[in-house]
Amino acid sequence: MSSNTLILGLQWGDEGKGKIVDALSKEVHAVCRFQGGHNAGHTIKVNGKQTVLHLTPSGILHPNVNCVIGNGVVLSLEALDKEINGLIDTGISFDNRFYVSSGCALILPSHISIDKIRDKKESIGTTGRGIGPSYEDKIARRAVRFGDIGNQDILRQKVELLVSYHNRLLVELYNEKPHDIEDVISEIMSYKHLYDKYCTDTQGLIYDWVKDDKSLLFEGAQGTLLDIDHGTYPYVTSSSTTAGGVSTGLGLGPKYIDRIIGISKAYCTRVGEGPFPTELFDDNGKMLAEKGHEFGATTGRPRRCGWLDLFALKKAVFTNSVTDICLTKLDVMDEFSEIKVCVEYQNEEPVYKTFRGWDSSTVGISAFENLPIQAQEYINFIEDFVGCRISYVSTGPSRNQTIHR
Ligand code: GDP
Ligand code: IMO
Ligand code: MG
Repeated sequence: MSSNTLILGLQWGDEGKGKIVDALSKEVHAVCRFQGGHNAGHTIKVNGKQTVLHLTPSGILHPNVNCVIGNGVVLSLEALDKEINGLIDTGISFDNRFYVSSGCALILPSHISIDKIRDKKESIGTTGRGIGPSYEDKIARRAVRFGDIGNQDILRQKVELLVSYHNRLLVELYNEKPHDIEDVISEIMSYKHLYDKYCTDTQGLIYDWVKDDKSLLFEGAQGTLLDIDHGTYPYVTSSSTTAGGVSTGLGLGPKYIDRIIGISKAYCTRVGEGPFPTELFDDNGKMLAEKGHEFGATTGRPRRCGWLDLFALKKAVFTNSVTDICLTKLDVMDEFSEIKVCVEYQNEEPVYKTFRGWDSSTVGISAFENLPIQAQEYINFIEDFVGCRISYVSTGPSRNQTIHR
C-alpha cells in the first residue's frame, strides 16, 4: 500500500525540513515541491558533505527518486539553471527524473528589482528574490508562465505587457531604471533548454503515480508562521506554506495526503523582520545562535533566536492537521542549565514554564531511551501540551542523526 507524506515547517522556516525530507526520501517514488521559490534554503548533510538546495526538491540526492516542481512554485530560470548545473557537477543526474510544471509563474528580473526597492521602504526583510511581486502578478492573472516559452508569440506578448507595467512602477513610483524588454525576452530564451528538457504537465504525472499506487513525499518551504493567510501578516512570505498549499500547488486533493509531519526546532528562530515574542537578546540567545550555526541558508543573514513557543506550535498543529511532529536541533540545547518554553500569553507577554537542562551531549543519539531523562521530559511535555505525537527527534545535521520513535 502506498502512503503519501507531507513534510512542512511549523515555525518561521529553517526548521530542518531539508534534512528530514532527504532522510525519508529513499522510501518514496517522488518528492514534490508545491510552493515558494528560491527564497528557500534546504540543507542536507550526508557523509560530511553539505548540500544546500533552493529549488530542487530534497530527494535529488537519491538517484532513483523522481523530483517535481509543482505549479504552485514561482520559478527563477536563472536560479534553476545554476542549481542544476552545480548538482550535475557533483555527479547528480536529472535525466528522466526531474519535472517542472508548465504552470509555474516565472520570476523575471523586474520582479527582483521591485522586491528589492520596495523592501527598502516596507522593511519586511525579504530574501530579495522577487517572490512577492511574482506571486502578485500570478494572482492578478498577468504572470508569464513556464509553459509560455513553448510559444514565442505568446511569450513576447505577455512579457511586453508585464515588463511595461513593471517599468511604469519602477520609473514613476520608485525612481528606478526600467528593464529592456528585448533583453528580458532574450534572457528567458537563453534558458529554453530547461523548457525543452523539464517542462511538463506535472499534475498528469502525479495522477498516474497515484493511480499506480506509488508513494509520494510533498516538501514544504518556509513555515506555518510565514503563511500568507495564517502567518504573522504582513511579515510573511507570499505563498500558502500550510497544508492546504499542497492541493493547490500540485493539483491533488487533500484525501491523498496520508501523513503530515510538522517540523519544529527544539527552540525557535526567525530571519527578517516581524514579531517574535519569545526572542532572546541575552547570552542564551547568543548561545543558540552560535551552537545552532543560525545563519540563513539563502541570504547568510543571522537568524534571530528564542525559546520554543508552544502556544504557536499547538495552533500550527491544528492549522496543518499535523499527524506527527519532528523535533530538530535538540543537540543545540545540550549545554543549557535552564530551558524555557512559552505556554501562554498574558497581556500579550509570553508566560514561561522552566525546565532543568540535561547538560550532556545528545549529538547523534538515535534511540529515545538513550536520551538524558531531562531531554525525554522536555520532549514528553511538548508532546502532551500540543496533543500530537513527536515521532522523530533530530540530534545532528546528518542524515542518520535521527531518532524514529
Ligand atoms: P530548512 O530550510 O527547514 O531545510 O532548514 P535549513 O537547512 O535552512 O536550516 C537548518 C540547519 O540546521 C541546517 O544547517 C541543517 O544542517 C541543520 N540541522 C538540521 N537538523 C539538525 C539537528 O538536529 N542538529 C543540528 N545541530 N543541526 C541540524
Ligand atoms: P526555508 O524554506 C526562513 C522569510 C524572509 C522574510 C519573509 C518574506 O529555507 O525555510 P520572501 O523573500 O519570501 O518574500 O521573504 O520570509 N523567508 C524565510 N525565512 N526560511 C525560509 O525558507 C524563508 N523564505 C522566506 O526572511 O522575512
Ligand atoms: Mg532554510
